[in-house]
Amino acid sequence: MNNSIVVLGTQWGDEGKGKIVDLLSQEADAVVRFQGGHNAGHTLVIDGQKTVLHLIPSGILQPDVECFIGNGVVLSLKALRNEIEKLEAKGVEVRSRIRISPACAIIMPWHEMLDRAREEARGDRAIGTTCRGIGPAYEDKVARRGLRTSDLIDPENLGEKIEHILDFHNFVLTERFGMEPLSIEAMVAEALELGAYFADQVADVSGRLYELRDAGKRVMFEGAQGSLLDIDHGTYPYVTSSNTTIGGVCTGAGIGPDAIDYVLGITKAYVTRVGGGPFPTELFDQNGERLARRGAEFGATTGRPRRCGWLDAVALRRMVRLNGVSGFCVTKLDVLDGFEEIKICTAYRLNGELLDAPPLDSHSWGDLEPVYESFPGWSESSRGVTSLDKLPQNARNYLKTMEKMCGAPVHIVSTGPERSENIIIQYPYDL
Ligand code: GDP
Ligand code: IMO
Ligand code: MG
Repeated sequence: MNNSIVVLGTQWGDEGKGKIVDLLSQEADAVVRFQGGHNAGHTLVIDGQKTVLHLIPSGILQPDVECFIGNGVVLSLKALRNEIEKLEAKGVEVRSRIRISPACAIIMPWHEMLDRAREEARGDRAIGTTCRGIGPAYEDKVARRGLRTSDLIDPENLGEKIEHILDFHNFVLTERFGMEPLSIEAMVAEALELGAYFADQVADVSGRLYELRDAGKRVMFEGAQGSLLDIDHGTYPYVTSSNTTIGGVCTGAGIGPDAIDYVLGITKAYVTRVGGGPFPTELFDQNGERLARRGAEFGATTGRPRRCGWLDAVALRRMVRLNGVSGFCVTKLDVLDGFEEIKICTAYRLNGELLDAPPLDSHSWGDLEPVYESFPGWSESSRGVTSLDKLPQNARNYLKTMEKMCGAPVHIVSTGPERSENIIIQYPYDL
């Protein structure tokens, strides 16, 4: 029995993690976010009603599921409060069910200001960040000058801490970017107000997760972003600022590797990317437009159009190994309905040489040419199909090919955005 499951993205994000966490949380006792922040946008569709979550774990729509924000998350308490108020206005109880680690790095207004100003200054080298202050907040954490949740709960010394931080950041804001300096008093007041609002939610997340494990409860760890956006293993510098891959679960939730039983790697049946950076299989033709249109590929956080391309088996098999993926969940298979021909990238060509793994340096990613294998598509609809034998034969062949090329079995197939539109081949908690 697997009681502890990780759900993470194996591409550049937006693979459909939220939908699958919501689906599996019907049988779970707790859901934990362990990295990232409100740069994430996780979409849940239940009976036609859409909910987009940014910080709140995607188990929140199941009334008995406990929700946790682990220490690895960079936390905008303002964004979290907005999200809670929206959900509570719809009748979803949140505050009694959500617990926040005292060690989360806090996102403050200067982080967002710096993120935006630096992106503008990069011009055509912009990373295309979500401008939510994610990178600058992780920088303050690593530089050991950042605020943590616990600093806002215990206001003693807060003024001194913020003064020290602003002494550093106001210099950059005013001298480098010509902005007005932030006022220490205003920032202290904002921090104290948010700290007071969340005082009852701060708890020992790691300790509670071990209590749940010891009691035989089912816990799910919900990744944000995707493996190719990992700060170490992704397409640096066009990445986010956290470890989105498996190691982030242990450091970001406060659990040991022995508390992970199963890793579900979410992958679209094709690939999308939002923001800048290399994308070897990106399509600029009618096929790309068709994927974007049929897949409704617009960012759930920023509304930006997502870039689309064919499945990249080279990058995917690296991410399967890196994350120890136990099984795949392939999402958006229905988006491929009606394509006459479907391609999978099986190798890259770089300066005339054939590569069967992604390059380890960051600069050659942009020069990779994809080498494709072609497969016949299917004209029948797979939308909403719930059993493998009802899928078009060529769609089944495509899934088999993915398994062979990428080195992991397909355990779930998603055939539409609705919670109910899935084929469960192996139920992760049952294995
Ligand atoms: P996440 O960030 O990984 O949670 O993914 P997003 O929510 O940002 O993006 C996934 C999008 O695809 C959302 O709009 C989902 O409603 C939608 N979606 C998820 N699974 C499927 C699927 O199997 N088919 C289709 N057509 N849409 C899906
Ligand atoms: P979910 O959890 C897709 C991308 C941004 C940008 C880069 C860095 O919904 O899959 P950041 O604001 O993190 O510093 O931006 O990462 N990015 C995402 N792309 N899905 C996400 O989250 C993303 N979160 C960040 O577009 O390219
Ligand atoms: Mg998303």
